Amino acid sequence: MARILLGVSGGIAAYKALELIRLATAAGHSVRVIQTPTSQRFVGAASFAALTGAPVLTDEFERDPARGAFPDQAPPEHDPLSHLELVRNADAFLVAPASANTVAKLAHGLADNLLTSAALAARCPLVVAPAMNDAMWANAATRANVQTLRTRGITVLEPGVGRLASKGEAGAGRLPDPSVLLAAVEAVVPAAAGGPMEGLRVLVSAGGTREPIDAVRYVGNRSSGRMGFALAEEAAARGAHVTVVAANVALAHGPRLNVVEVETAAQLQAACEERFGDCDVLLMAAAVADFRPADPAAVKLKKEAVGASLSVAMERTPDVLSGLASRRRDGQTLVGFAAETGDEAVRYGRGKLQAKGLDAVVVNDVAAPGVGFDVETNAVTIVTAAGDHPVALATKAQIASTVLDAVMALRGASASAQAGTSIS
Ligand code: CTP
Repeated sequence: MARILLGVSGGIAAYKALELIRLATAAGHSVRVIQTPTSQRFVGAASFAALTGAPVLTDEFERDPARGAFPDQAPPEHDPLSHLELVRNADAFLVAPASANTVAKLAHGLADNLLTSAALAARCPLVVAPAMNDAMWANAATRANVQTLRTRGITVLEPGVGRLASKGEAGAGRLPDPSVLLAAVEAVVPAAAGGPMEGLRVLVSAGGTREPIDAVRYVGNRSSGRMGFALAEEAAARGAHVTVVAANVALAHGPRLNVVEVETAAQLQAACEERFGDCDVLLMAAAVADFRPADPAAVKLKKEAVGASLSVAMERTPDVLSGLASRRRDGQTLVGFAAETGDEAVRYGRGKLQAKGLDAVVVNDVAAPGVGFDVETNAVTIVTAAGDHPVALATKAQIASTVLDAVMALRGASASAQAGTSIS
């Protein structure tokens, strides 16, 4: 499954883009469409919206009701800039049909509408499928523009040869069939196969649990799930098969993650226990409540009935990670996370390494600036039996990469130790 951004420019072949969406969604892909104003003279936005199940955008200054999210994603809480957010979320951007005018703009880096602005901002692979009259295709300007795009590593498909739009004309310029377009897009979607974690099953817990007080209120914590999802995305990018048990996370995620949504510590425990036996690496990044209301009300508590003050009796929740560690098998690598405050942070983390029977504990001092909850950056210390490895302030994606390097180093060390044992 991939997220495909489809840019439709003006041309009679725009109708074929509808069939492409039908094929792509049937194959499990998630599709968003942006149109040039001219393309709407050929096919209206309503058809694309109906087939994708998502709003269609034409204007850079138009509000996107889906806030740049694809149909399989939860929209972010803020209103992002559409031309940036759509390409950030996309695994591939296909421009089909690409008119001679749009090909020229792409070649020259013009950004005069939403489609061309998005193309200029795209870091994902771009596939351009030109469709035009044969004389326009053969024109030296178009030939040079196509050459420019190809030199930059952009995939420009050869148009088909045959009957063209205008009566009685035939030649090169037909938009390739939708199945050819889809195959071309699928070929450029980055494949994680062959990565250094290929074949490994990684279970990640992320977010923060919420423990009900009554039917509408809960006791929660400030974890956003960003660190857990950064770890999950990085493991998937390295080829691992990744399952995320996500407690109340409202973040967009890539197509390679299997996400299981939970709310409470008990649900998180059940979801993790069910999947733990199968996993090779456990990354327990969720902030799991240590206490929960002992007797949550099934209805909403009314303040008149409660009176001037409310005391909620709390009980301990089970330590999910310790429970999993107690049934660990050979070959599994277990990583805990500890949010601490103050000078003793690393010492507390080391205590948890031993008490919970883990291979590593990633400690962060959440009182430090730029570190901890709901920020894009983090600074951690990776505590293992071999020592402490401080990682300076960096994005959560970079921290995730360093943590996974440490996990792979631990797995390498334990595999060699095992081999040594069996030889001796
Ligand atoms: N954890 C868990 N189950 C819980 C609580 C925490 O699995 N009920 C996991 C977290 O996912 C994290 C690690 O244990 O990986 C954190 O350890 P913990 O000792 O619970 O940290 P704190 O709650 O911060 O501990 P304390 O208040 O004792 O410092």
